[in-house]
Amino acid sequence: MARDLFQKCREYSDSADARAQGFYPYFRCIEQSYGNHVVCGGEEKIMIGSNNYLGLAQDPRIVEAACKATRQFGAGCTGSRLLNGTISLHNQLEEALASFLGRESALLFSTGFFANQGALAALTEADDIILCDRENHASIIEGCQVAPARLVPYRHNSVDALRNRLKRIPKESGRLIIMDGVFSMSGDMADLPPMVKAAKEYDAIMYVDEAHSLGVVGPQGRGVVHHFGLNDDVEIVMGTFSKSFGSMGGFISGSQEMIEFVKHKARCFIFTASLAPAVVGGVLKALEIMQAEPERIEMLWRNTRKMHEGFQSIGFKIGSTQSPIVPILIGSEAKAFAFAQRLFEEGVFAIPAIYPAVRYGEAIVRTSFMSTHTEEDLDKVLDIFAKIARELGTFDDPAYTEPGRRRNVFDFALPQRSGAEEVRGDSGNSSRNGSELHAAVSR
Ligand SMILES: Cc1ncc(COP(=O)(O)O)c(C=O)c1O
Repeated sequence: MARDLFQKCREYSDSADARAQGFYPYFRCIEQSYGNHVVCGGEEKIMIGSNNYLGLAQDPRIVEAACKATRQFGAGCTGSRLLNGTISLHNQLEEALASFLGRESALLFSTGFFANQGALAALTEADDIILCDRENHASIIEGCQVAPARLVPYRHNSVDALRNRLKRIPKESGRLIIMDGVFSMSGDMADLPPMVKAAKEYDAIMYVDEAHSLGVVGPQGRGVVHHFGLNDDVEIVMGTFSKSFGSMGGFISGSQEMIEFVKHKARCFIFTASLAPAVVGGVLKALEIMQAEPERIEMLWRNTRKMHEGFQSIGFKIGSTQSPIVPILIGSEAKAFAFAQRLFEEGVFAIPAIYPAVRYGEAIVRTSFMSTHTEEDLDKVLDIFAKIARELGTFDDPAYTEPGRRRNVFDFALPQRSGAEEVRGDSGNSSRNGSELHAAVSR
């Protein structure tokens, strides 16, 4: 008899179990958003679980630009960019991004996820190697799995580990090194200068995902690549509009010939509808505001510094973050859920992150801050965190004092395809697909 594809759905009970225990943290419904505050179940909460770093998602000028674009072009483009889905706003935005980032050309994708997937799949071939930081975002890992090239993970932000891998790559293999500019869970900034040096020595292409760094780091928010003055040394800069730009969509940027190739080859660019006029009109306005109002970035950093210091002075471990993403270590998955639930009840909206978003036994409450949070918001958040840590005994918990042991894992995540567990560093066996080449370079 054929396997029943729905059997696993009938057996799946993790989410129902967590709901029954009263701390299911996902799909919380927001009835109204003011950026720094949201309304859920009729109650106002301080939002510290969003990537709206500059508070632009609710900016009336951007909302108006989105409405204007909708009035001019309609609600959607009803087709692929390649065919009937290119409007003048798409071309304008690509030119504006290329000029903002000092690149020859840029190409929009319907999401940042697609931008990574499309570029990696189009640009690599079998026997090429993608060297991937173990803490890279899921869209990069997914992109590596769709790409014909082989994925070779290296230790997070370690140039020694990267060099070790590069040394073993067969001479004829193409190689691409990919990393988040600011890592989405730890908030760490990529250690770009030595990585770029290694890339040059080993003839590798550099690809930096600036999802969490545009609008946050570098002059006028131009990202980590500009922060380090390495724009001429990084061939591909990718970004999203779902964070500082306050909207959705993504892009890659680089040489004109690379973009020309990808726009004719990337399947998730060609076989999907283009970004809606409202999105593109809004993002164009956001880019203008980001450059005209640098005080937003200053406020964001003032708030960020306050929260780094504030959490640490209470006794929380915040890892090595260098950004507005502040991971609050809890350790145990169950306690991270309980912590987030108590936060919500006290009026703070933040989400726990568990494996595979972070390592087993190193569950966090992921917090992220905005330029539009007030001093009062931030003081209140710190007080509430301190109160809940006392209440739950967080600092005395062995799961906190010795994180990294697997305890009481809630497995909400969908099963990972082979390779994903290896990227997060939980598997000693790195020979994905049994490939000798892969095993040789990733040992
Ligand atoms: C580092 C990184 N890259 C890519 C993405 C995907 O972006 P998008 O939300 O536009 O699909 C994200 C989203 O969370 C991200 O954090």
